[in-house]
Amino acid sequence: MNSLEPVFRTENLSKYYPLTQSHALEGVSLAVKKGEFVGVKGPSGCGKSTLLYLLAGLIAPTAGQIYFQEKPVSRIKDKVRYRRENIGFVFQDFYLYPGFSVLQNVLFPCLYRGIVPVAARIKAEALLDELRMGHRTGAPVEVLSAGERQRACIARALLNDPECILADEPTGNLDSHNGQAILEMLKKINEQRKTTIVLVTHDERVSAYAHRLIHIIDGKLEHK
Ligand SMILES: Nc1ncnc2c1ncn2[C@@H]1O[C@H](COP(=O)(O)OP(=O)(O)O)[C@@H](O)[C@H]1O
Ligand SMILES: [Mg+2]
Repeated sequence: MNSLEPVFRTENLSKYYPLTQSHALEGVSLAVKKGEFVGVKGPSGCGKSTLLYLLAGLIAPTAGQIYFQEKPVSRIKDKVRYRRENIGFVFQDFYLYPGFSVLQNVLFPCLYRGIVPVAARIKAEALLDELRMGHRTGAPVEVLSAGERQRACIARALLNDPECILADEPTGNLDSHNGQAILEMLKKINEQRKTTIVLVTHDERVSAYAHRLIHIIDGKLEHK
């Protein structure tokens, strides 16, 4: 794939939630190129999470189109597979499964009919090592610090070698030191693995890490 081709492209993307009568996104056209690290900034409620959920095919737009590698996401029948093969998600609230170890949580994306391939286990352990979590693989997730939880989530997001990581306020529940460490890890992943990153945040420090910032105000792109 040409390095200038977009991973994601949206055309006049709009999302209206009838329940809250909220025009969460209105006419958003943007492109994210392969290998880019894009920061999406904007105040709370401006539509940042909605944008990520649309890119991931978790929700459908009210109007407009979303393309993944120039293929309309609306035409992808198996959205679960689309996400599993192409997208790693990192959330503010971690969403780790309590009662399971760090390693088990990282392996959830490849758990298929209760079986984990040996290669996946080896890879998960290597990822956890890389993210300085090698000493925590057997720990139940409940005992982890917030920073450790987010590192486990990043390992989980990377397990299937996604083309792209969609990160929704990944530093929102972290103190300043751990937040910075997570941003640095994402930057390293972007540089070393060429993983495309779309990072939604109102963390001011993101401007030091992202190649480019997109600003959303009240569901619309703000051109600065
Ligand atoms: N599932 C939903 N149902 C109804 N309204 C929603 C839903 N998700 C978000 N909204 C509304 O859409 C707007 C944008 O929300 P969101 O995308 O979560 O913004 P942000 O992530 O920037 O805080 C808000 O007004 C919010 O209340
Ligand atoms: Mg949000």
